[in-house]
Amino acid sequence: MRKPMMAGNWKMNKTVVEAVGLAQAIRDSVAGVESVDRVICPAFVCLPAVQQAVQGSGVAVGAQTMHWAESGAYTGEVSAGMLQGLVEYVIIGHSERRQYFAETDETVNKKVHAALAAGLIPIVCVGESPAQNEAGETHRFVGGQVKAALAGLSGAQVQGLIIAYEPIWAIGTGRAATAQQAQEICGGTVRAAVAEAFGGAVAQATRILYGGSTNAKNIGEIMQQPDIDGALIGGASLQPDSYAAMVKTTAEVYR
Ligand code: PGA
Repeated sequence: MRKPMMAGNWKMNKTVVEAVGLAQAIRDSVAGVESVDRVICPAFVCLPAVQQAVQGSGVAVGAQTMHWAESGAYTGEVSAGMLQGLVEYVIIGHSERRQYFAETDETVNKKVHAALAAGLIPIVCVGESPAQNEAGETHRFVGGQVKAALAGLSGAQVQGLIIAYEPIWAIGTGRAATAQQAQEICGGTVRAAVAEAFGGAVAQATRILYGGSTNAKNIGEIMQQPDIDGALIGGASLQPDSYAAMVKTTAEVYR
């Protein structure tokens, strides 16, 4: 069985002091819920302090992006090697990175390779725009994103990473996909694309998250879907109470 994961994407929120406070509150409120992988992804500057705050608690830390090169003249960027020892996970190709920072399927693929080579676990994001959704292009587009992001990897590498399906129209809008819609794409598109490229056994082992306006109210129904193994949570992960409720609901669903 795939272990469920609740991953919080804090985006560009919280100072270092605030991030430590939030991490401590989360650490304390989800202590002992070992059946769910709990991951928090603060901004780069907060990583050392947050990592220290949650060390040994079972709460893991992730970064929100990284560069693919080992080092060099890339002003402002952070490499996978710099993240080693600080984080276990790294979000790659979030739609906000694709939209505002010109990330492409090609750079996402380079980053996934670099993260794995450094021993980090990528959380690879895919998802269609509102226009693509309305035009009925979701299946073709998202399937293509999955295959492009994972190109050149081995099956063993793929089953060790995480894929997050996040329809852009659902991110930060309060309009989550219905549990059925999310299941359809996570299963019929994302897992199916992994199966086509790497075989059914790899696809069955790979964890697939849904993201986009998840909260303590809708997470139960979402987590009941057979092909949804967790959530990448934005806004609701900034509130310790709602994040903890989502972790606990998930533990109940998987009991
Ligand atoms: P949201 O963000 O939960 O605030 O919609 C999700 C994400 O962007 O990962």
